[in-house]
Amino acid sequence: MTSQEIRKSFLDFFKSKGHTIVPSSSLMPDSPNLLFTNAGMNQFVPIFLGEQKCPYDPARATDTQKCIRAGGKHNDLEDVGMDTYHHTFFEMLGNWSFGDYFKKEAIDWAWELLTEVWKFPVNRMYATVYSPDKSLGDPSEFDQEAWNFWAEKFTSVGLDPSIHIVNGNKKDNFWMMGDTGPCGPCSEVHIDLTPDGDTRGSLVNAGSAQCIEIWNLVFIQFNANADGTFSPLPATHVDTGMGFERVCSIIQNTRNFPVLTG
Ligand code: SER
Repeated sequence: MTSQEIRKSFLDFFKSKGHTIVPSSSLMPDSPNLLFTNAGMNQFVPIFLGEQKCPYDPARATDTQKCIRAGGKHNDLEDVGMDTYHHTFFEMLGNWSFGDYFKKEAIDWAWELLTEVWKFPVNRMYATVYSPDKSLGDPSEFDQEAWNFWAEKFTSVGLDPSIHIVNGNKKDNFWMMGDTGPCGPCSEVHIDLTPDGDTRGSLVNAGSAQCIEIWNLVFIQFNANADGTFSPLPATHVDTGMGFERVCSIIQNTRNFPVLTG
């Protein structure tokens, strides 16, 4: 697939699941605490906070968002040029639920797109779930619900969930736009790109180009307040972000994996 076909395939997939395709917002965000737009969810902050009514029916959207992470909480500047998978500018493909579907559908559809539409080899896929480190003061609880949904997926294809699901604390598995704003536990999908694809999760979040995160599924449940506390939001939401260039590089350089899978 060409990059245009990959982008279209993502948007068409979520359109078929009732999402409205919306345009990318400007790189100059409305939020006072952001230098540049750093995620697809930026334009939807007033909806997450309940300050603006969701204009989509059903309350779902999908898009590809122009992003720059060159400062603030998500600063990739030190990584650009040092590794193969961080860029000064990138596109983030995403799907959103505004008080509509939650973890089950988000995980079901991520699995369906990756394994059934794009045919990523399941044995190379790892999912991470939020497991707070209470000694560090991490908020909220272990995300058992997300763990169970992923476990069902891996078990259905004969893989061991205890190997293919990796726990992460607030640093890797609790997504915040900035120091304040909508946030929540997240589940990421990582792909093992080693020749044999048998690293059993050991390279997940280890800073290796041989196993990279391609998709982050955030379950927005809280607002982070300026005093460091977290308040539950009136409704729960889904905010996902996929690294478009990363996915293109994987699909195109592996020619859908025959090179890696033999
Ligand atoms: N907002 C999340 C992220 O940027 C998911 O899109 O990773």
